[in-house]
Amino acid sequence: MEATMRGVRLPGGRRVTMGEVPRPDPGHGQVLVRMKASSICGSDIRAIYREHLGHGPEAYQGVIAGHEPCGEVVAVGPGCVRVGVGDRVVIYHIAGCGRCHDCREGYMISCTAPAPTRAGYGWQRDGGHADFLLAEESTCIPLPAPLSYVDGALVACGFGTAYEALRRMGVSGRDRVLVTGLGPVGLAIGLLAKAMGASAVIGTDVSAPRRALAERIGAVDHALAADEGALEQVKGLTDGEGCEVAVDCSGAPAARLLALQGTRRFGRCAMVGEGNRIEFDVSQTLIHPQITLYGSWVTSVGHMEELVEKLVAWNLKPEVTVTHRFGLDQAAEAYRIADEGQSGKVVLVME
Ligand SMILES: NC(=O)c1ccc[n+]([C@@H]2O[C@H](COP(=O)([O-])OP(=O)(O)OC[C@H]3O[C@@H](n4cnc5c(N)ncnc54)[C@H](O)[C@@H]3O)[C@@H](O)[C@H]2O)c1
Ligand SMILES: [Zn+2]
Ligand SMILES: [Zn+2]
Repeated sequence: MEATMRGVRLPGGRRVTMGEVPRPDPGHGQVLVRMKASSICGSDIRAIYREHLGHGPEAYQGVIAGHEPCGEVVAVGPGCVRVGVGDRVVIYHIAGCGRCHDCREGYMISCTAPAPTRAGYGWQRDGGHADFLLAEESTCIPLPAPLSYVDGALVACGFGTAYEALRRMGVSGRDRVLVTGLGPVGLAIGLLAKAMGASAVIGTDVSAPRRALAERIGAVDHALAADEGALEQVKGLTDGEGCEVAVDCSGAPAARLLALQGTRRFGRCAMVGEGNRIEFDVSQTLIHPQITLYGSWVTSVGHMEELVEKLVAWNLKPEVTVTHRFGLDQAAEAYRIADEGQSGKVVLVME
């Protein structure tokens, strides 16, 4: 095996640097993964690439970037019990303490231990934009054969996040779903909601190319321009009622408000898009229409494991949302495209 490896870092100000570093060796309970695919998330753009905005769990520590890693295990450290050399794995993108309440529930994302005990790959410890990744065995999820490495990378954050929000709201065939923001996470909401039985999906975005992509891959039945007329159109498509379920995947205040206003009476609404603030008339918008509002952050290790199994059963390939693939050497171009916000998912592919 090579003694060194390439790794991509994001110093801020829309810069991308590539360096050569020693290849790590797995310690106790750790595995070395040869990276095969590592996708770019909206959070990488928002909180790291443009400028280092994050605090706490979103504070980027100058490490190798990439929190959506997938690859093949090439070495295991002492004490590993489940993962072996040759296994194809998705890496749940945060390693937690394993002892706090949230970790015991499988939600290492919201582990309450301070850094460096809680560390997100690509945020506080080296991530997937590299030839190899040093991972905790506890964060590895076996990738079933029908799914590609790119499918796996997309599960590691985006599809996992979308599945969690829909699962938490118990989405089924009784629901129509409104999704505001048709970036990669919004596309995942549409595709998964349909697989879970939703009878119709309506999406909104300010980007025409993103609306077109959402319709082309069947993530939505109707893609609406996110303008003043959108609420009226959502009502028009739902017999004047609104959708039983709405999910904001934009983080934009106007889109969050539309998600709430487009939710049917007694319906459920989830906030998934991050950042920003929102102001609304609570009585008129939330209380009197009897709406249940959810916050949902990533997913649990167990639910991610469940998701890869379901994707196979549903014959759903997350990579249908991918429009751009680049080699590791082209990471700067990959980030430039992702930053434009007009494409589907952008992935670094290592082979
Ligand atoms: N909750 C979580 O666990 C979690 C996990 C991953 C990502 N995220 C967040 O989810 C969001 C989506 O991620 P992504 O990778 O798809 O990002 P993205 O930035 O590619 O997608 C956001 C989309 O929202 C659209 N948008 C902007 N303003 C809008 C408006 N007023 N109405 C409708 N659409 C509008 C944009 O055009 C864009 O297509 C980001 O905020 C990201 O940080 C949250
Ligand atoms: Zn992410
Ligand atoms: Zn913990």
